Amino acid sequence: MFVVIGTTGNVGRGLVRSLAEHGARVTATSRGITADQVPDGVRPVRADLTDAGSLREAFEGADALFLQSGGASAYLIDPQEIAATAKAAGVTRIVLLSSQGAATRPGSASHGVVARAVEDAVRESDAHWTILRPGGFHSNSLAWAHAGRSARTVAAPFGDVGLPLIDPADIAEAAATLLRDAGPAGLVVELTGAALVTPREQAAAIGAALGERVGFVDLPRPEAREQMLRFTPEEAVDTTLGILGEPTEDELRTGLGDEDVLGREPRDFADSARRNADVFR
Ligand SMILES: NC(=O)c1ccc[n+]([C@@H]2O[C@H](COP(=O)([O-])OP(=O)(O)OC[C@H]3O[C@@H](n4cnc5c(N)ncnc54)[C@H](OP(=O)(O)O)[C@@H]3O)[C@@H](O)[C@H]2O)c1
Repeated sequence: MFVVIGTTGNVGRGLVRSLAEHGARVTATSRGITADQVPDGVRPVRADLTDAGSLREAFEGADALFLQSGGASAYLIDPQEIAATAKAAGVTRIVLLSSQGAATRPGSASHGVVARAVEDAVRESDAHWTILRPGGFHSNSLAWAHAGRSARTVAAPFGDVGLPLIDPADIAEAAATLLRDAGPAGLVVELTGAALVTPREQAAAIGAALGERVGFVDLPRPEAREQMLRFTPEEAVDTTLGILGEPTEDELRTGLGDEDVLGREPRDFADSARRNADVFR
């Protein structure tokens, strides 16, 4: 039986669907999950990574775990306790959704240190483990939904800096394959898109998917910083702006690394824009 953390998120949703379509028994978790959010036959269990008691119930009967660190609450989790709870429940295989930042921003408290701590707990566990390290997601552009719908204009800093963004549906597909057919233990898999895409090009692709022009405003860095600080801690804002504006050579590397976990090229941004077009209508 598989247990999936973060089932209502961009990666978790597709992963649970894929596992269920292949006939697997799945427990789908998030803090607020409800039965209508999961496919037929999937067991929804509310669980919070910061509460080991809730994880014990979720992990019951599972032998394989898809783990992620819970975004904003990642600072509050105890990765060693999560790994120990999984082991006690009988989990023998873990696929961890980590982040490229674990390698490229090791000194950053928000992007590197937390991701590394979770990776270390998984590496030190007795489980057969695989670590996925994606770069930025296509789905980050869904934050433009309101502005895209209401004004047909979106805004972002560094409009002409391209990054190899990855489709979360590709991450879900890779994770589903690795959970089902484990492959060699101890793989660290980089997941980035096949080509660099700039924010301006993303806006144009959303416009093309809608059949209407979507304008783009290049936000000055101080303005973008001020806006981001309303929702995000300062250190995370500055690291994010560093990645968006001055990506390192490693953050510009395209493709899926040496491990062919998809068996095909990653999907491009235009494909995601077409699939998500309704969000902008
Ligand atoms: N977006 C990017 O560019 C990017 C790049 C690299 C790595 N990542 C990593 O990829 C992961 C997934 O990203 P995503 O875009 O799929 O995120 P997302 O859409 O925000 O989904 C996060 C999921 O985790 C659940 N969750 C959050 N806090 C939790 C907690 N304390 N306990 C249990 N479940 C919790 C959420 O549901 P509830 O709120 O209902 O609990 C949701 O289902 C994150 O860990 C992120 O750090 C993202």
